[in-house]
Amino acid sequence: MPDALELLKTRRSIKPIELAGPAPSAAEIETLLMVAARVPDHGKLVPWRFIIFEGEARTAAGAAIVAAFRAKYPQATPEQAEAERTRLARAPLVIAVVSRAGPHVKIPEWEQVLSAGAAAMNLVLAAHALGYAASWITEWYAYDRGVLDALGLKENERIAGFVHIGRPKQPPEDRPRPPLTEIATRFKS
Ligand SMILES: Cc1cc2nc3c(=O)[nH]c(=O)nc-3n(C[C@H](O)[C@H](O)[C@H](O)COP(=O)(O)O)c2cc1C
Repeated sequence: MPDALELLKTRRSIKPIELAGPAPSAAEIETLLMVAARVPDHGKLVPWRFIIFEGEARTAAGAAIVAAFRAKYPQATPEQAEAERTRLARAPLVIAVVSRAGPHVKIPEWEQVLSAGAAAMNLVLAAHALGYAASWITEWYAYDRGVLDALGLKENERIAGFVHIGRPKQPPEDRPRPPLTEIATRFKS
């Protein structure tokens, strides 16, 4: 288990297709969700929730993605449509982070959305801390109303991310990061 700061300094996303099994155990999934839920949350509104896709349920959800793809791209070949069935089955475990931000008398909706982002990031980091790797993606189906209905999202709910989790098949290469001189300034009076 890596040291916390080392983990934060070295984390990288791994493509879903490069995430192998075995999937996290039920106890590990509980840990992942507990950490994901432990985020700053102005007003304690819990403006997010999680949907777990594991085992056969991953391809069952894929049926809705295939149907939406066919409706969206009627010219697509049957093979192209069929390939969509495995969208959520590339990694052994996928956890959708659902934002349920909405108008509130005191708490801006923006802050509720940020809290969902924090939950997704905590989930990614918890996966890494348990020795897994992760990929936080959305892709087209996160924005398709037909898919969202089939996955049980209400009108006001949005996908913050489908966090794919598994074992990295190979260690990741690093990618360039923005120089701190370009993204951080010291305020001067
Ligand atoms: C909300 C959100 C949605 C994302 N959706 C996608 C996506 O659909 N496809 C993709 O390749 N990367 C997506 N990314 C980017 C990856 O999560 C990842 O940050 C990127 O591949 C860079 O890798 P790194 O995390 O190792 O820096 C998304 C990131 C965020 C925050």
